[in-house]
Amino acid sequence: MKKLMAANWKMHMTRAEASQTVKELVKQVGELPDDREVLICPPFTSLASVASALEGKRGYSLGGQNFYPEEKGAFTGEIAPEMLKETGCTFALAGHSERRHVMGEEDEFVSRKVSFGLDHGLGIILCIGETLDERKRDQVEDVLSRQLEIGLKDVSRQIDTDSLAVAYEPVWAIGTGEVAGENEIADAHAFIRDQLASLFPDRANAIRILYGGSVKPGNCASIIGLDNVDGVLVGGASLKAESFSKIILAGV
Ligand code: PGA
Repeated sequence: MKKLMAANWKMHMTRAEASQTVKELVKQVGELPDDREVLICPPFTSLASVASALEGKRGYSLGGQNFYPEEKGAFTGEIAPEMLKETGCTFALAGHSERRHVMGEEDEFVSRKVSFGLDHGLGIILCIGETLDERKRDQVEDVLSRQLEIGLKDVSRQIDTDSLAVAYEPVWAIGTGEVAGENEIADAHAFIRDQLASLFPDRANAIRILYGGSVKPGNCASIIGLDNVDGVLVGGASLKAESFSKIILAGV
């Protein structure tokens, strides 16, 4: 299984900066190793410029950070899967912690997005993870199993496993510089794999599970070396070609 190295640029980068960063990134990475895939999720306004900077680059693809689960209509400020696909997106995020905790998206809504996106031809990275408070109360497994079960409830049991990934992103590790410990990551990923096995009995091993939360060039190699870690979802350290290129090549 190829490792998926995904960048979530959040609300950063003008179009000019985005295209410059991608060109620099591709140059610094050089020949992309066969076991790596790269996904860049820029803001909507930079999708087209990133798409053109990535044209013809083997192993790189484009993703949306968000979409609304309707085909079209009166949904001011929102964007439909078809519109993302038209700019070249093959994937989109759903359930990112900032959407859940800043924009108030709940499990049921995340679930609608997951199945709607998949049904409309977008690959989905479903993001899940506990808050610090939930970890302190020993509720990690409860939170992860609830977010997975509801998030994936309407997904076909015959899912094409290339179009679905789960990102474990402990909320307390996102953007804080505080990366989860190796045991915490390994335990959470093993638990997620088990949960996937009960939801998709014959294909759980082929669904990628990414880790996200303060991934940096210095910690990426040991994180992606852990069992059940099939890639990373990177915010802050993906904004500079120099650091994201090192992350993409970590442990090679
Ligand atoms: P971070 O963000 O790498 O800046 O912690 C990760 C994410 O939000 O996906």
